[in-house]
Amino acid sequence: MAPHISKVAVIGLGTMGAGIVEVFAKAGHEVYAVDGTPELAERGKGFVTTSLDRAVSKGKLAEDERNATLDRITFTAELADLADADLVLEAVPERMEIKHAIFTALDDIVRADAVLASNTSSLSLTEIAAGTAHPARVVGMHFFNPAPVLALVEVIRTVLVDPEVVDAVRELALNLGKKPVVVGDRAGFVANALLIPYLARAIALYQTGAVSRTDLDNAGRVGIGLPMGPLTLCDLVGLDVVKEVCEVMYDATKRPSDASPSLLKQLVLAGRLGRKTGQGFYDYSADAGADEGESTGGMTTAAAVVGKGEIAELLATSLAQAGVGVTRIADPDADVAGLAGSPLVVLVGDAAEGCASCGGDGAECGCGATESPHDWFTGVAGVLDERSVVLTADEASEFALTGVLPADVAVLPLRLHRPTKGGQVAEFGIPLQATAEQVATVRDTLEAAGFVPIAGPARPGLVVDALLFQHLNDAVAMVDAGYATPEDIDTAMTAGCGYPVGLFAILDELGADVVADGLVEQASLDPSIVPSPLLLEHAAADKPFLAR
Ligand SMILES: NC(=O)c1ccc[n+]([C@@H]2O[C@H](COP(=O)([O-])OP(=O)(O)OC[C@H]3O[C@@H](n4cnc5c(N)ncnc54)[C@H](O)[C@@H]3O)[C@@H](O)[C@H]2O)c1
Repeated sequence: MAPHISKVAVIGLGTMGAGIVEVFAKAGHEVYAVDGTPELAERGKGFVTTSLDRAVSKGKLAEDERNATLDRITFTAELADLADADLVLEAVPERMEIKHAIFTALDDIVRADAVLASNTSSLSLTEIAAGTAHPARVVGMHFFNPAPVLALVEVIRTVLVDPEVVDAVRELALNLGKKPVVVGDRAGFVANALLIPYLARAIALYQTGAVSRTDLDNAGRVGIGLPMGPLTLCDLVGLDVVKEVCEVMYDATKRPSDASPSLLKQLVLAGRLGRKTGQGFYDYSADAGADEGESTGGMTTAAAVVGKGEIAELLATSLAQAGVGVTRIADPDADVAGLAGSPLVVLVGDAAEGCASCGGDGAECGCGATESPHDWFTGVAGVLDERSVVLTADEASEFALTGVLPADVAVLPLRLHRPTKGGQVAEFGIPLQATAEQVATVRDTLEAAGFVPIAGPARPGLVVDALLFQHLNDAVAMVDAGYATPEDIDTAMTAGCGYPVGLFAILDELGADVVADGLVEQASLDPSIVPSPLLLEHAAADKPFLAR
């Protein structure tokens, strides 16, 4: 018979447990709130009371609701008190021996039909369940931090569990106002299995020294549109927690991208765990200096924008508004001799209008213009020398310049990303020819023009797409493995990680073909990057993942 869950107990009143107690009690459940000693139970009471009082002072909770919520909670240090609980959820530290000890003790205390749930983030639910007298009643109920705020609850089923128990816990989560996602027992479940490798890749890129922490954070926050950048998020979550989940993931998958980057290990060894210790990737102490200064170049006074289409117009207008003297060339027949010596030249092919030579479909027009240098841009290249920094805003213009300009001219690939709530990223790649001063000038000029500049090595994907496309590919691989649906994954990332839209919503907007092609290019840097077969199939069929 399906269990009826009314009276609940939460064991461990730390970061998670105290918040979960609040969630249950606010929803009207009678709750036993348990910690190891009476003093710790009292401390837990303090956490819950403070949180409720904060809600009252913010006008989010009425005084009488606060009192009624607290009245529903019994704080105790005695597991023996839990004999009549319908569900017991443990939120004790992430150590198998502690979880085993709790569940073994509960086996002799709670009713045979009581549900035993674990809030574990990374331990094997199957191993926890197998160590109990009644594994059919053991299930994962994984809340996210802060539990009163984040809506995701991952409900983890094992091969041992009674399906009715899973249904009852899913129902319970829905009644709490949460968004449950039911999945099997796999390292990291959904949200952490996707989030943590993304964070690890950002750390790995940072440890190369080629991309600054500000640029990496802007790539996540502004470029992808996430609530915060990856390094800031690591500091918030705790670097020890990130490392621990990396290790669990790597243990299960043996994928290089899941391994803990050496810098992460070093910071954990050094005790720099993020916000909670005052220092992680950033310094949170009161006397911390300002972030590393990125620019010393000063913006350029003159620039030429050559090309057609929206991006060319946007760049020309934005630069002019920033006070740059802009020479605008939008006609392939215009005389370009005057561009000689121009300090900054931006070349923009026009994907919308197609190839400037034949009007065909951009880089794949087939007229030969992209196979041989593009006439228009080749003409421009003919008058340029090392006095100019050349920015190419698309692959067509990059291709047109290949082998045409003298080798000592710095050609920087430029990518304008779609605007997000944080602004619009203009990222550029730094080739070996570029001097530090040129890089600083490009950065300052783009910033003055209203963009958020990001700089990294001139390699496929630059920074934003290097992070985003692999993150998307991981999500598709999870679907391909039959572990979760695109809808569940989007729920997990929005409700559990605060993403404004899900990964599949982003993927469908970009197009599976664009992401697959991008990954193939990135694979030239790292052969472990392989587009998921399902991604390739969606690209070939031109089929979105989500029903429209
Ligand atoms: N912190 C997070 O962001 C987060 C998010 C989701 C899930 N989790 C998971 O939740 C669980 C708890 O994590 P946390 O961050 O809240 O830990 P925490 O260290 O903040 O709290 C653990 C609590 O358990 C108590 N405790 C320890 N041994 C006990 C025992 N034998 N009996 C009763 N109480 C005991 C401690 O006194 C403490 O109050 C872990 O499994 C963790 O993986 C954590």
